Amino acid sequence: MEYPFEKETKLERNPNFPIQPFILNRWSPRSMTAESLSDEELLPLFEAARWSPSSYNNQPWRFFYAKRNTPLWPIFFNLLVEPNQEWCKNAAALVCIVSKKRFDHNNKPCRTHSFDTGAAWMAMALEGASRGFVVHGMEGFDWELAARTLEIPEDYQIEAMAAIGKRGPIDLLPSHLKEREKPSTRKTLEEIAIEGKFKAGKTSKVA
Ligand SMILES: Cc1cc2nc3c(=O)[nH]c(=O)nc-3n(C[C@H](O)[C@H](O)[C@H](O)COP(=O)(O)O)c2cc1C
Repeated sequence: MEYPFEKETKLERNPNFPIQPFILNRWSPRSMTAESLSDEELLPLFEAARWSPSSYNNQPWRFFYAKRNTPLWPIFFNLLVEPNQEWCKNAAALVCIVSKKRFDHNNKPCRTHSFDTGAAWMAMALEGASRGFVVHGMEGFDWELAARTLEIPEDYQIEAMAAIGKRGPIDLLPSHLKEREKPSTRKTLEEIAIEGKFKAGKTSKVA
């Protein structure tokens, strides 16, 4: 089986070890077709997130979303910084990813709410990419405006936004984004996986 983005990732990514192809073949394109996604296409991405692991199975992740051609769309779109609006105008959905900071069962602070929600986001991204959709995370938006506009209470934390859509041809992008429309590479394995303490790592020598 060929994964939707495999042709491009093969050219750019050389893992040290063979890994599951759906992991290597996830990346974050920007070019989308401006088509809508049906609920049958969109909701399975949140379903994938739903099955993520979390401390005490607290499931702190929440996904607030707007679909294009709906009254909610401009509300979400206006949160984005202009460089993200440039390509997100062709997205099918915009998502604001939020986490609950306290446990449901005892209302005590949960240290891993962001970690757990990051895992859920990744499940969503992997599911979307495996289906050939663009799922592109964003930190480029007005965080305070998002909290106010989406009426996120104090005991919840905004983590990021994401754009989801049907993959489009590169020509739909402005020229400065065309050259960036390819899978990126990564730090070396020894920089991120250290046998032992911090000081044993390459990172401690660089920092
Ligand atoms: C939390 C998060 C925030 C990001 N913010 C932006 C953003 O505001 N604008 C953008 O164009 N890309 C953004 N990105 C995409 C990253 O630049 C991209 O994931 C990274 O370069 C790795 O490339 P890949 O996802 O194609 O593997 C973001 C990604 C994540 C996970």
